[in-house]
Amino acid sequence: MDYVYGPGRSHLFVPGPSNIPEQVIRAMNRNNENHRTPAIPALTKALLDDVKKIFKTTSGIPFLIPSTGTGAWESALTNTLSPGDQIVSFLMGQFSLLWIEQQKKLNFKVDVVESEWGQDADLDALESKLASDKSHTIKAICIVHNETATGVTNDLPKLRKILDYYKHPALVIVDAVSSIGALDFRMDEWGIDVAVTSSQKALSLPTGMGIVCASPKAIEASKHATSLRSYFDWNGYLKCYNLGTYWPYTPSIQLLYGLRATLDLIFEEGLENVISRHKRLAKATRLAVEAWGLKNCCQNKESYSDSVTAVVVPTNIDSGEIVNRAWKKYNLSLGVGLNKVAGKVFRIGHLGNINELQLLGCLAGVEMVLRDVGYPIKFGSGVAAASAYLHNTIPLIPSRI
Ligand SMILES: Cc1ncc(COP(=O)(O)O)c(C=O)c1O
Repeated sequence: MDYVYGPGRSHLFVPGPSNIPEQVIRAMNRNNENHRTPAIPALTKALLDDVKKIFKTTSGIPFLIPSTGTGAWESALTNTLSPGDQIVSFLMGQFSLLWIEQQKKLNFKVDVVESEWGQDADLDALESKLASDKSHTIKAICIVHNETATGVTNDLPKLRKILDYYKHPALVIVDAVSSIGALDFRMDEWGIDVAVTSSQKALSLPTGMGIVCASPKAIEASKHATSLRSYFDWNGYLKCYNLGTYWPYTPSIQLLYGLRATLDLIFEEGLENVISRHKRLAKATRLAVEAWGLKNCCQNKESYSDSVTAVVVPTNIDSGEIVNRAWKKYNLSLGVGLNKVAGKVFRIGHLGNINELQLLGCLAGVEMVLRDVGYPIKFGSGVAAASAYLHNTIPLIPSRI
């Protein structure tokens, strides 16, 4: 079967799974190893230490779980909460919706704070809930940092300020699936109790590893939480951490070496430079969208996502047709609109191991597709706006100065 079209590289611009760099592909191209030799625990220990750096935590404890973001959600919830616990959860797009469905299935009492899709989480509504919750019945606040369906990034420092103002002890559990490794994320500074991400997003790895990081307060909560859990039980990991064996079950050797390689690349570029690159790519994309005369699905400029841009199309155009044609004609993969915004938006993922010229290729492809579906675009308009900005902002490559 011809799954992959021949010449050149495909242009993968969905907001995860993202492009896997050659160095990572090569690092993972290896035989299995016995995980019970001293080599794998040593590799794992170094990985755990380094993973903490991308969560910006010194006190958190990370768990690398053979799973995806969805399993990481479940691990975060079942280890810290008990059935019937009240949680406040923000709904503002497809991924927050799916997480809320999981929270309900796991028998938590979910107080859903809903915003229009394209708006950010309604933190004002949280204020009034905390103000009236004198007996601290709310056990956790669940929030998606970056809603991948709408390209909206929520204000976590503001959330922390609100909790501190009311001296409320609720745990803060954050989906950082499409943010960690792309956006600034400060677990300790923002007082996050559990943060989760997934390997196929900004870490540019294959799918299959969920990363969960728990604060000391979350670890303490896990000692009393009664939600049923077995495979995801942090205690199994903690016991192995104490023994120095590190794994309660068989890890994917290839993913461990892949994680090593991807972290090395991030540290070589510099985490802050990685974050700046994502800001640059996102800004260039937004300038192109503006030049095309199209709108960003994200309503609030302060909340524009630096890892994905959801572009709203005119009502006479089906955004699904744009995504379809981009793949069929230009070997360009864009993200579809999901659920409420299906047909209305397409998404450009600009996260992970990509650079500015790759992005310009994507933007040129989008322009051609837009013309294909009848949108009267001026060829080069978006590319010109993006290039003018990038040309002034791309730094020299440090090793080539
Ligand atoms: C913000 C967010 N949370 C959770 C998920 C679910 O992750 P996974 O598909 O790895 O289970 C996704 C996937 O796109 C996501 O973007």
